[in-house]
Amino acid sequence: MYMNANTPRDAARAELAANYDLAPSLAAAKATSELYARVSRVIPEVDWARHAPYILAIQKLKAEKDAVILAHNYMTPEIFHGVGDVSGDSLQLAIAATRVSQQTIVQCGVHFMAETSKILNPAKTVLIPDSRAGCSLASSITAADIAKMRADYPGAEVVSYVNTTAAVKAASDICCTSSNALRIVDSRPGDTVIMTPDGYLAQNVAKESKKRIVYWEGACIVHEQFTPEEIRAFREDNPGIKIIAHPECPPDVIAEADFSGSTNGMINWVRKHRPEKVVMVTECSMSDNVASELPEVEFVRPCTICPHMKRISLEGILWALHSGTEEVLVEDALLDPARRAVERMIALG
Ligand code: 13P
Ligand code: SF4
Repeated sequence: MYMNANTPRDAARAELAANYDLAPSLAAAKATSELYARVSRVIPEVDWARHAPYILAIQKLKAEKDAVILAHNYMTPEIFHGVGDVSGDSLQLAIAATRVSQQTIVQCGVHFMAETSKILNPAKTVLIPDSRAGCSLASSITAADIAKMRADYPGAEVVSYVNTTAAVKAASDICCTSSNALRIVDSRPGDTVIMTPDGYLAQNVAKESKKRIVYWEGACIVHEQFTPEEIRAFREDNPGIKIIAHPECPPDVIAEADFSGSTNGMINWVRKHRPEKVVMVTECSMSDNVASELPEVEFVRPCTICPHMKRISLEGILWALHSGTEEVLVEDALLDPARRAVERMIALG
């Protein structure tokens, strides 16, 4: 496990071991049995005895350091259910970041999410347990690319997915997430809207939008892997199965699905419809997190992992709280324009 840029992993581990009782413990598992009840379908008891000491240490430090943990839906269940104070999709986490009272935010998600929290709360400390947790979409585009697209399509507004760096947000007119992209695009003036950086999300929105959409051809390394053949195979192998997919998937995959929505949209769909069998065409941990809650639903699980999200671990969270690193900072000059783009999105609901 990487701890942060300045502390070698072994040194950080030794410091944690010297300060906290982190050995696997049945007593710690018992002390957290209420939390374990939420995840017992997906985490074996023996593993929980390994997680529980970390969970207890993190809970104690959170209170001592006036910290809150924002956990994305792709976090593993011991993080999502064990230590997350607020969980949700990108939009919900951004909104939560504007409302939390604690002085420190520990972002359990990828770097652009932590930057969004910092942009919305410049006076707070925002920590990320592993600053290498990137995103193939965020790294696919720069502010200079946005300037070039503006020059190619004069007058068109730029709608950028929140999966972007602060510099790209600052160069955009407004942000969107997968849960509000259509509404945001349709709210823009003019006939043409520039969407960045997810080409598939843009094409999926274009099918329903009244605007002409021109887009950047970035892609999510997780969702671009799914194919329509694979979706059809799920149906053939599992008669009656419901298939729900994230809009970062290619349009021919979305066309085969029963529903498409943000990570939280997908969770809510399963909660509402309670299908006998479902496949969530998205990152692997989503099914684990919802399966814990809905024992009557059978989840067919394509195990497609986001390597960036999976950099976040209980050990890394404990280290972030213990050491106060790694702090996420955003250049002063970018703060106001980036915040304007995010706040305009939030204001549109
Ligand atoms: P959501 O906003 O739907 O949570 O998506 C974020 C993300 O990174 C999905 O890959
Ligand atoms: Fe980025 Fe895709 Fe990972 Fe989401 S799942 S953080 S879009 S690489």
